[in-house]
Amino acid sequence: MLYVHVPDQAERWLALFRAALPDIAVAGEADAVDDGQVEFVACWRPPEGLFARFPRLRAVFALGAGVDRLLGRPDLAPGVALIRLTDAGMARQMAEYVLHGLLRFQRRFDDYARQQQAGLWQPLPQRDASELRVTVLGLGAIGGQVARTLALLGYPVAGWSRSPREIDGVRCLHGSEALDGLLAETDALAMILPNTAETRGLIDARRLGLLPAGALVINAGRGEQLDLEALLDGLDGGRLGGAQLDVFETEPLPAGHRAWRQPHLHITPHVAAMTLPAPSAQQVAAALRAFVAGRPVAGMVDRVRAY
Ligand code: NAP
Ligand code: GLV
Repeated sequence: MLYVHVPDQAERWLALFRAALPDIAVAGEADAVDDGQVEFVACWRPPEGLFARFPRLRAVFALGAGVDRLLGRPDLAPGVALIRLTDAGMARQMAEYVLHGLLRFQRRFDDYARQQQAGLWQPLPQRDASELRVTVLGLGAIGGQVARTLALLGYPVAGWSRSPREIDGVRCLHGSEALDGLLAETDALAMILPNTAETRGLIDARRLGLLPAGALVINAGRGEQLDLEALLDGLDGGRLGGAQLDVFETEPLPAGHRAWRQPHLHITPHVAAMTLPAPSAQQVAAALRAFVAGRPVAGMVDRVRAY
């Protein structure tokens, strides 16, 4: 049996899973469930202790790309497979999100909005895409497509990953030794990394200081990867040119936090790339079938690597 625990649209998810897996029993929170029959769970932000209910649990399917909130949970036994979404329609959304931040900055749309408030008709100097060096941190299912899309639009794009990657039109670097030098050549930084022991605190005050004056920072990975106070200091002092943040260490970002009042920071409530129910249910169904058949499963999380 597949048990589905989702924060909203439960009926829609159940209908999608039942259609995609007609040969498997599918149940949700509202159903009377024999916990001993549950072998699979599909979930996003499940309550603590949920997995401990199911003694025959074999695999958990995360209905998102990041699994940081699931890894390390005491109720997720080491022998249970953890499988995440790979793209499933999120990469295109993320490319839109990053492009929006880039264009606002490059084409000076914020300055024009301020000028409009003042009734001012005044063309401003702007940089061509070919002059804005973009670095994408994380070249996986999502970051890889973001980098590829921006390169096609004419931005000089560099990308950074843990192991070597090759993407047409993108200068690919890897490993921690390569990062500092890359930051020094970055006008716009886009962070699309998983939250792991290696990436937490990655972009700290020192590394923000390596970015050229006036740089833009976009973080859509996880809040723990960026020193928010150092970023705000950089924006307040004018050394950094702007920022667009979708993720924060504490979500929702607390009311009254100084970040809300920084005029060059644009905040979105963790919506850069949303889980799309239809393609996600299809992908989970395919992964579940592969898992049962003993075939390789796309999105299988390596518990040691933590992504
Ligand atoms: P993915 O396919 O697992 O790719 C992760 C990328 O990060 C890979 O290129 C990986 O390198 C790289 N990486 C991991 N650890 C690294 C390290 N220590 N140093 C350098 N590079 C490192 O993940 P994805 O599907 O693209 O998703 C990435 C993250 O985006 C998710 O984990 C989640 O946190 C975030 N996300 C946010 C939203 C949102 O709405 N804000 C939506 C979806 C996802 P290798 O290529 O060498 O493995
Ligand atoms: C969203 O943040 C995700 O990881 O899918």
